[in-house]
Parts: sequence; structure tokens; C-alpha cells
Amino acid sequence: MDQTFSPLSPSPRLLLGPGPSQIAPRVLRACATPLLGYLDAEYLRMMDDVQTLLRMVMGTKNDWTMCVPGTGMAGMEAALVNVVEPGDQVLVCVAGAFGERMVDLATRMGGVVSRVDAEWGTMVQPEQVKEALKTLRPKVVCIVNAETSTGVLQPLAEIGKLAHEAGALFLVDCVTSLGGMPVNMDAMGVDVLYSGTQKCLGAPPSLAPISFSPAAVEVYRSRKTVVPSFYLDAGQIWRYWGPERGYHQTGMVNMLYALREALVMISEEGLEARFARHRQNQKALVAGAEAMGLELAVKDPALRLPSLTTILIPEGVDDATVRRNLINQYGIEIGSGMGKFAGKAWRVGLMGYASQRANVMLLLAALGDLLKNERVDEGLAAASAAYAAA
Ligand SMILES: Cc1ncc(COP(=O)(O)O)c(C=O)c1O
Repeated sequence: MDQTFSPLSPSPRLLLGPGPSQIAPRVLRACATPLLGYLDAEYLRMMDDVQTLLRMVMGTKNDWTMCVPGTGMAGMEAALVNVVEPGDQVLVCVAGAFGERMVDLATRMGGVVSRVDAEWGTMVQPEQVKEALKTLRPKVVCIVNAETSTGVLQPLAEIGKLAHEAGALFLVDCVTSLGGMPVNMDAMGVDVLYSGTQKCLGAPPSLAPISFSPAAVEVYRSRKTVVPSFYLDAGQIWRYWGPERGYHQTGMVNMLYALREALVMISEEGLEARFARHRQNQKALVAGAEAMGLELAVKDPALRLPSLTTILIPEGVDDATVRRNLINQYGIEIGSGMGKFAGKAWRVGLMGYASQRANVMLLLAALGDLLKNERVDEGLAAASAAYAAA
């Protein structure tokens, strides 16, 4: 072969986009420790630890709490494919690109899908769901808790209650919320919850934590048809994660090490302290951005996510040029807009380990420089004041 390949050496980056997020060195070190066999007793104990820690972060006592191999989309697919059968009615709340994906997936699975829609940048109102449930009898009501395409936090309690009153399961995407804000699965009446490792949990992309309530397990067990996906069949995956320890697929050994270490870090920090840290850094970012004259896509402060902020791209500014210069000159990655927000908003993630004061101040200064923003000093002062006020 003529071509030669140098040893791998990725450039240092500060990942402040919609994910993957910056990872603690300790998690990366855990990832680089030697492999164990996937049925080694030591490894099985690590799986038990991960289950215990995931239950703590999710706020659940569910037995069926495990990880699906793959990223957040594997979680979404596994959540839906195990409870939706062809012909089942599914109601999806759509307020952004990931709600749209739920519609797509449920339709591919043969679900008869209805939807309630909210404007991008706003949340689905419980009244809309109540109205829809007057005529529909869905088996599952689906919603995204933290819509990464818009930066909106969708409250769960009321819609969960409505779903249960209608006899439906409540299925929730917590990809951008888990580990960065309370999700309280059991208290919110969530029956199926999935997430991804690469955002607020602070591990590399690779696994999709997922949990099924007893009611969801019952729906799985009383299916009339076999789950059409072998790989994502929750009952099969549970054979490995549960007491049987049966082979279904090879464990994602080093990725589980990383997730375990990230979860241990969460338990050391404490959930309340971690959530407060995410909220504080987001508030400082918002204060700084607004003081610089930048506008946010989510107008209602109560709906803004602690983990992801959508900043409207100022008139006359070239989106791609700014993002390229942020990478080339500062090594900082932020996200482009998605779907209806493409070319209109930037997505700034402050997730997990990356949710730090130094990162907020650096990003504000870098954006101020690249946008030739004359109010950058005011922005930094406002962010600083937000920390002082906390
Ligand atoms: C809310 C939400 N759901 C699902 C996904 C899909 O996750 P992944 O890209 O890890 O497959 C994402 C990814 O950004 C997301 O933000």
C-alpha cells in the first residue's frame, strides 16, 4: 500500500455543541483500561453498579433498567419498537426535530400516529394533549423532555397524568436532560425513558440507557407479535442485564467502564449540586449573550434548557464562517441550527463536564471577538455578575 497513516492524534477541542460533550479525563482514563470478558464476574458487577447508578439518576425503582448498545437514536428505536405493534395508536407531541423523529419511527413500526404540535421554541401544552385524547385512545403518548433542536424544556407531570388517565403508556426522550436536570421518572409517571451517554451524563457516545416501568414490561410481555428488531428486543437485552446473564450481544466493555465512571462522578457530585451547576452556567451564558445584544430563540426563560441554549444568529452574520473560526481560532465547537432553525440559530451545549464557568467566559469572549461585538465587556461583566448573584 502506498498510502501511509500517522498514529491517531485528534486536535484538542472544547465541545460546546449539542453533543458529544467534553468528557472528564477520569472518564477517558477509565475507558482506556484493559478489557474484561463480557461475562467476567467483575464485569457483571460493574453492570450492576451501572444499573444502580442509572436508577438513581433517572429517579426510578424499575427493574428493567439497562443500556442498549448504540447512541440516543438506538434508545429511541428500542423504546418504540418494544411497545408499538402494527396498528397501534400512538400520540406524539412534536415541538422540534426529535419529536418529528419519533413520528417517523413510530410510523415505520406500523403505528397509527397522531400528533399535537407546538411552535418551534415553545412547548406542547397539556390542554392540547387533553383535547387530542378526547377522540383518540392511544397505546402510547410520546414526548421529548429536552428538545435539542430548539432548546426548550418540556415539563412532564401533567401530560404523564393525562396519558395514564387515557390508559396509555408515557414514553419520554431524556437524551439531553438525563444527568443535567431532574427527570424523576417514577414521580412523573414515565413508563419508558431513554437517553444517551454523550451529553449531560458525560461519557462517550456509545450506549443508550433505557428503563421500562412494570406497566411497560407488561405491555411488552403481552405483545401479539414478536419485536421486529432482534438487536433491540428489550426482553432479550434484559436476559443479559437481568439475573439470567444470558448472551444476547457482546457487552460494550470499555464504554461501560466509561459510563460507570461518569455515573460515579455524578453520585460524588450529588444530583442537586449537579443540576444547580448546569442551571448556573446556563444563566451566566444567557446573561452574557443578552448583554452583548444577542437574542435567544426561546423567549420564555422558564422554558430554557440548562443544558442547551439556542442563540439567534445576528442579521448579516455568516453562520458557517463563525463556527469555522471558532474551531480554527479557539478550538471551540458549537452546533448549527437544526430543521426550522437551520441557518437561524446556534446551539450551545453546556453539558456534564463541559458545564463550567471557564467555558462560559471563554465562549462569550471568543464570540465577542469573532462577531466584532462592541459590547463584549458588558457581556463578560453580566456573566460574571450572574455568578456573583448565585
Ligand atoms: C433529544 C434527542 N433525542 C435523540 C437524539 C439522538 O441521539 P444520537 O444522535 O445520539 O443518536 C438526540 C441527539 O442529539 C437528541 O438530542
